[in-house]
Amino acid sequence: MGLEHRRVCLPKVRFGVFPGEAVETSAQRRSRTATRVPRDAPGGDMAPLDFEDQRLLGSAPVARGSLLSVGVAGLGYWGPNLVRNLGACPRTELTWLCDIDPDRMELIGRQYPKAQRAATFAEMLADKHLDAVAIATPTPSHYLLAKAALQARKHVLVEKPLAMAAAEAEELVALAREMDRVLLVDHVFVYTPSVRKMAELVHGGEVGDILFFDSVRINLGVFQHDVSVLWDLAPHDLSIIDHLIAQGPEYVMAIGTSSTPHGVEDVVHLHLRYAGGLLASFHLNWLSPVKVRHFMVGGSRRSMLYNELDSAGRLKVYDRGIDVSADPAGIRDVLISYRSGDVVSPRLDEVEPLSRLVEHFADCIEGRAVPITGGEQGLRIVRILEAAQRSLADGSKRVRL
Ligand SMILES: NC(=O)c1ccc[n+]([C@@H]2O[C@H](COP(=O)([O-])OP(=O)(O)OC[C@H]3O[C@@H](n4cnc5c(N)ncnc54)[C@H](O)[C@@H]3O)[C@@H](O)[C@H]2O)c1
Repeated sequence: MGLEHRRVCLPKVRFGVFPGEAVETSAQRRSRTATRVPRDAPGGDMAPLDFEDQRLLGSAPVARGSLLSVGVAGLGYWGPNLVRNLGACPRTELTWLCDIDPDRMELIGRQYPKAQRAATFAEMLADKHLDAVAIATPTPSHYLLAKAALQARKHVLVEKPLAMAAAEAEELVALAREMDRVLLVDHVFVYTPSVRKMAELVHGGEVGDILFFDSVRINLGVFQHDVSVLWDLAPHDLSIIDHLIAQGPEYVMAIGTSSTPHGVEDVVHLHLRYAGGLLASFHLNWLSPVKVRHFMVGGSRRSMLYNELDSAGRLKVYDRGIDVSADPAGIRDVLISYRSGDVVSPRLDEVEPLSRLVEHFADCIEGRAVPITGGEQGLRIVRILEAAQRSLADGSKRVRL
């Protein structure tokens, strides 16, 4: 347990629709977050943690068949989605809710009266019957909270990105291994039916050689003060690619800009170059007046477009491209002919990916599966983000990985 397998295929289960940002509009969210405790307020996200002797509070091994006791920290925008899915999963029991903001605690706590309320993360961890925690607090707090939870021998489901530095992510991966606990990262897109189908087509050889990845993930986004659009949105694309190909990039280049005085990038173009010439390009933007979610995979045999917003057919598989052959007449170096075949939209099941993620978390804890989006994947992604951040700071220079 705690070890990750790179190319694990999911069992054939029905799962589906991505809940994502549709849960709440950015305007609703802005008005709601405006009433929150500011992050730099006393006792803000990084409320002091006292984990002395937490190792002694380790939870007992989970008996198969019994419910897993799980607590959720962070009840802001995304946390309630985890709460809802952990509360609905027949294999988990939502025993604790935790938020340092009493208003959020009251709002969400009211809907789950059986769950105990913790004003601090340490209070929740002190419950020796608690098996696992889900962490949906702001990104800069992931490392410290996940570390404390692992030290307290809890299994951890943590939001993306795993940490803000590769050294921190490495430490978490090592700690999970040492403690023999599951460390799973909520790279939720990997659990969508579209990405699962893409993986099936890539690994089954139907796409052929992958020639490029191209993604546009833009909208009028909710500004984060503690992370840039790179750290906020790129983990989605990077985790999809990581799931599709068993290869890391050779180098990274990024260019970006910030429209606000605090200098946090709100528009970033990110490029990854892989061995053999494969190129992955991402356009990430919080300032776009329109919302676009296009993730394209160009292959030598088939190409695919995953458009999360197209509910009539999120995934389309194109038999379009070029065929390259030698010129029998010897006049040209090569002959290029165009293929313009069918476009197919595969039928995809409709089950919320977060519910699949929660089931998978339970499987991992019970030793029935190894994490698909485990700490190792989280670390690979943080390494790329860190390299991209260096490139941004250094005039878009190539940064080798
Ligand atoms: N997987 C996804 O698709 C997805 C989508 C949105 C956000 N996220 C991730 O979820 C995380 C949270 O994002 P958000 O938009 O919900 O943020 P948010 O600011 O809306 O909510 C964070 C909540 O955590 C609480 N909190 C802060 N420090 C805490 C602490 N030490 N202990 C307990 N509670 C604490 C805050 O009071 C707040 O209610 C981020 O890491 C983000 O990247 C993931």
